[in-house]
Amino acid sequence: MNDAADVKRRYRQFADMECKGYSDVYYGLALAVSEDEEVVGFIAEMPVIQPNLLFASVQFLTGPGSVPKTGSELRAFVKRHGHELANVMRSRRTQTNEVGRCAVLLPAFPSGPLALVEVGASAGLCLLLDRFYYDFGSTPIGEASSPVHLRCMVAGPVPLPPAVPQVVWRRGLDASPVNVHDDDAIRWLRACVWPDHPERRRRLEGAIELARADPPAVSAGDLVDDLPGVLAEVPDDAQLVVFHSAVLNYVSPDRRQAFADVLADVSKRRDVVWLSNEAPGVIPEMTALAPSLGEHRFLLGRTQFTNGRRRDELLALAHPHGADLTWL
Ligand SMILES: C[S@@+](CC[C@H](N)C(=O)[O-])C[C@H]1O[C@@H](n2cnc3c(N)ncnc32)[C@H](O)[C@@H]1O
Repeated sequence: MNDAADVKRRYRQFADMECKGYSDVYYGLALAVSEDEEVVGFIAEMPVIQPNLLFASVQFLTGPGSVPKTGSELRAFVKRHGHELANVMRSRRTQTNEVGRCAVLLPAFPSGPLALVEVGASAGLCLLLDRFYYDFGSTPIGEASSPVHLRCMVAGPVPLPPAVPQVVWRRGLDASPVNVHDDDAIRWLRACVWPDHPERRRRLEGAIELARADPPAVSAGDLVDDLPGVLAEVPDDAQLVVFHSAVLNYVSPDRRQAFADVLADVSKRRDVVWLSNEAPGVIPEMTALAPSLGEHRFLLGRTQFTNGRRRDELLALAHPHGADLTWL
């Protein structure tokens, strides 16, 4: 049983830091939850109290059009469907596959030819980043005919590339890969998109369409234990880039360090570029370089490993779903 005060704090923080000005529906619901003893009591009994998990589970059961919009509607839903809701929350974990994050990663990639390894890849949709169309407000990048159009507001001296990088090899690794041909798994991916974000929903559908036509390979495995096996398969004649977004927070600080150790070890035989797009506090080396932040932003970091030695750069501050990017 979780502490009720922790649940309240977590939902209040989610409302203020992640939803305010970005999702009216989740802002209102998260605030309402933080003041509702009954709903807090329900959540406190769950193994994972994460707001995104609760709200995705509700949406999984209702569909996006019928999500409760007010605190009292949510309380009534929990009362009526608590058993089903608890089953979803106990059996699933958030696997939001947010292709919008490719827009913030794009300027950090070397031009290629690249061999990409994404850990915590979910369905592997971000591995298709060279097949999307990017709108940064000025220079468009990629094919306009792509079903995935990504818009990202930029600030600062962002080094926009003239074209998408050349990707010659790609592989994902995930503890629980999402099969794009599995309708139930796709229903869960859709439920992870916030209900008042139609643009995110559209680009997810576009990426699923691309992936169904030519699925990126995503192996089942752990990002530390199974990474050496994946890295051993990477062709020698391409620049290896290992990347991830919103993943390392799911593992302990010791495992994050072990992950970096695997990359350092591999760099004794080939150079490795590691791109990380994670919340502040997740990667200590990037957190140490970050300015103090008034808003919730991810830290886009680039670490170059050569002969076992690392060089860290904090490149940018990024909206968690890729809506904006401030280059440092
Ligand atoms: C929030 S999702 C992010 C998905 C994707 N990176 C994106 O940005 O769209 C986190 C993913 O990390 C995966 N994950 C969590 N712990 C993992 C581990 N130890 N090894 C591999 N994958 C893991 C989960 O299964 C999930 O698919």
